[in-house]
Amino acid sequence: MKRVLIFDSGVGGLSVYQEIYAQLPGFQYIYAFDDAAFPYGELLESVLIERTLHIVSLLVERHSIDLVVIACNTASTVVLPSLRKNLTIPVVGVVPAIKPAALISKQKAIGLLATPATVKRDYTNKLVEQFASDCEVFRIGSTRLVEMAEEKLRGKAVSITELAEILHPWQDKVDSIVLGCTHFPLIKQEIAVAFGSPVHIIDSGLAIANRVKALLGEQATASSASILNLTYNSAANNHVAALNRSLQEMQLEAIQSLCYPKI
Ligand code: DGL
Repeated sequence: MKRVLIFDSGVGGLSVYQEIYAQLPGFQYIYAFDDAAFPYGELLESVLIERTLHIVSLLVERHSIDLVVIACNTASTVVLPSLRKNLTIPVVGVVPAIKPAALISKQKAIGLLATPATVKRDYTNKLVEQFASDCEVFRIGSTRLVEMAEEKLRGKAVSITELAEILHPWQDKVDSIVLGCTHFPLIKQEIAVAFGSPVHIIDSGLAIANRVKALLGEQATASSASILNLTYNSAANNHVAALNRSLQEMQLEAIQSLCYPKI
């Protein structure tokens, strides 16, 4: 049976996990998140690279992983070269879906919703230059939105009013929104309601799932009932009881801590 490690700073990677699991339920999944260093959108690049390399390498070794998904735009925009140099297995990253958004936008005006780090990274600027040079690209970098997704998975309702205030600058300006942070598909419906007017909301989850399928192939058996999908975090205790309830609904076992130092 193939084993896939999915990594993020928090619960965001679960949006990617859900897309992959829907297509490939017969693999074993290890979901790991570095909540001791959350949020990644406010971390120095060197720290982010060091932590991702450490946690991912440790789990690849421990669980004989076949493929790694860095289910975090903020990390993917900087750590992929180092990870690929250090590992011998495929590493799939996730980057903002600028290209499909530019293609779908009729007004040629798109909004990039991501973390404060991702909106200003060179990697993002290059994606915009390469795929959306005919579009006006508006950017909002928001850690608050990331926190709202974390809270939702711990049972707290998302405030539509607060979301609407964050999205207000884009009213009547964009017809397509790129969810350039894996946390945001978890609050996609709320984002649509808060935005109000019709808009295309695009994320990278399905493309990642297709990529994993292309690299690992279809699973041999479709029986997922006996497979234990594991979850690791890095903080010792981080409201895990509330989160474990959401994880259970996604066929993931209760969180075990790796206890990697807080930054
Ligand atoms: N889920 C992450 C992303 O896709 C990062 C959130 C954060 O820790 O700032 O960028």
